[in-house]
Amino acid sequence: MSDIKVKITDREGVLHEVDAPTDMNMNLMEVVRSYELAPEGTIGICGGMAMCASCQCYVKSEHALPEKSDDEEAMLSEAFFVEDNSRLGCQIHMTPELDGLEVELAPEEA
Ligand code: FES
Repeated sequence: MSDIKVKITDREGVLHEVDAPTDMNMNLMEVVRSYELAPEGTIGICGGMAMCASCQCYVKSEHALPEKSDDEEAMLSEAFFVEDNSRLGCQIHMTPELDGLEVELAPEEA
């Protein structure tokens, strides 16, 4: 298996192009954490359970993402700064189809 390229704009507006492995069962939130693109404690607070929205991001590219689960829908309906293209990063698993994915991290909920 090989890595895919993912473009991630951090909360300061800085674009990072990173390699994400598709064979480690990683999700986007974990990719952001592994590259330290958001300060520790501000992303992935619930551990990827779709229960905190700290991993919210805006999907900028046209990739076909898996449908939102009921849990993700429910969390996004309560979160701040939600846009039409909002997703929970922890619910987006790194697969070969997502090569070239572009996302921007949503602001931190204070
Ligand atoms: S890490 Fe909590 S919802 Fe994604």
